[in-house]
Amino acid sequence: MSKDKLVIFDTTLRDGEQSPGASMTKEEKIRIAKMLEKMRVDVIEAGFAIASPGDFEAVKAVAETIKDSTVCSLARAMGPDILRAGEALQNANAGRIHTFIATSPIHMKYKLQMEPEQVLAQAVDAVKRARQFTDDVEFSLEDGSRTEFEFASRIIEAVIKAGAKTINIPDTVGYGEPSEYGLMFKRLIENVPNADQAVFSTHCHNDLGLAVANSLAAVMNGVRQVECTINGLGERAGNASLEELVMAVRTRKDVMPVETNIDTSHIVPTSRLVSSITGFPVQPNKAIVGANAFAHESGIHQDGVLKHRETYEIMKAEDVGWHTNKLVLGKHSGRAAVKARYEELGISFDGAGEFNHIFQAFKELADKKHEIFDEDLQALVGEAREVEETYGFEAMEVHCKTGQAPVAKLKIRVGEQSVDTESEGSGPVDAVFKAIEKQFNSGADLLLYSVNAITQGTEAVGDVTVRLEREGKLVNGVGADTDVVAASAKAYLHALNLLESKSRAHPQQGI
Ligand code: KIV
Ligand code: ZN
Repeated sequence: MSKDKLVIFDTTLRDGEQSPGASMTKEEKIRIAKMLEKMRVDVIEAGFAIASPGDFEAVKAVAETIKDSTVCSLARAMGPDILRAGEALQNANAGRIHTFIATSPIHMKYKLQMEPEQVLAQAVDAVKRARQFTDDVEFSLEDGSRTEFEFASRIIEAVIKAGAKTINIPDTVGYGEPSEYGLMFKRLIENVPNADQAVFSTHCHNDLGLAVANSLAAVMNGVRQVECTINGLGERAGNASLEELVMAVRTRKDVMPVETNIDTSHIVPTSRLVSSITGFPVQPNKAIVGANAFAHESGIHQDGVLKHRETYEIMKAEDVGWHTNKLVLGKHSGRAAVKARYEELGISFDGAGEFNHIFQAFKELADKKHEIFDEDLQALVGEAREVEETYGFEAMEVHCKTGQAPVAKLKIRVGEQSVDTESEGSGPVDAVFKAIEKQFNSGADLLLYSVNAITQGTEAVGDVTVRLEREGKLVNGVGADTDVVAASAKAYLHALNLLESKSRAHPQQGI
């Protein structure tokens, strides 16, 4: 039996970025977008063009880079927002404007302070304006799951008539319950007279842990687009997770009326990339992409799997990209091989200078670590890119002895000079950070410190993220090294460099 196609709309770069601290630079967005394209995501929501000049540039750059996926910008149902989205998408191969306005009684009364008829008129006007830029217009009824049925029906009919091709009914506050949310779509699709002229879509938040269940209930009731994010990143408790939705559709094809185009083998590498860029670690027991998602600890389970894999495994780890991190390179690998592997990973370099920097970091890593995996290569890029280097890590010595305060001594490059600094701390990492601050007195607050082992074993590279804030600017510095204390020093200096060279305020601070 042929199945309907389920459109996968990824909003990691927009709703995902709205998680406090998850803001991304243009270059980071491009890297993630390239992975999403490789994964064959249908629509990539790249940002909210009017939110800030940085977000505008990011949407524009993603639109100019991505060829195989549709690139989308969010826009409130307002003329200036739509104009900005249209401008950002003008060079896209396929561009979509996603415009929205709140439609629930509580949002209309208290937030918008508008009458329903005004909201309806503004929605129609917004869709018509958006259609002047593209045929591909999506309209969202913000807080749709708490919108009155009659009003939802009227507004949907009107915006479809005005030219909307996708109708998204978000569960904005994560209040939905699967049977109720699914039924709402069934009734709307059956009752709105022109419903057959649009694709219905979900966008579920995870406040009650029901985002994926709600999305799938909607799919069972006629929805053919799901909005989701890698690792479930997003506002508050996050959005429906792409990897869970896609794998549920694939694994339970016996009951699902739809199929997706997704190449699932890119799921784990993309999850890791998003985690390392945002500094949001993936919990070990997270479905599909958590480190333990395919690990069998109990003897009974291990025995069963060895005898017949399907006794305890419903999916193959390789199918989502686990264990496919081939041993690619080592200390004898040359420049051409390293560059070629980066190209296969979708990473290219602006000039010889940028690659030279990465290649040197690769050689240093290969001296310490025998096996270099794809994730290691990606971590090196994350650390070395996108920043003018004001402060560079040169060398470090840390003394730790039980019963004594650790002491860190660092040599840091500042321009042409080397600067020595030293401090005690409550632990080795604390001593390193204090030594750096003693010298540079940045005035920044440390908001997050996280360490992830990129590959397995004790010689694994530690990928450290340091999030600093200064005067409203938030930056995530990353550092990778087999020595996690050195990785921490590099991450801290990287964050200081980012603070010096660019600001990453909250993506929607301007609105
Ligand atoms: O959660 C929500 O309602 C949204 C809309 C802007 C689609 O993110
Ligand atoms: Zn949302």
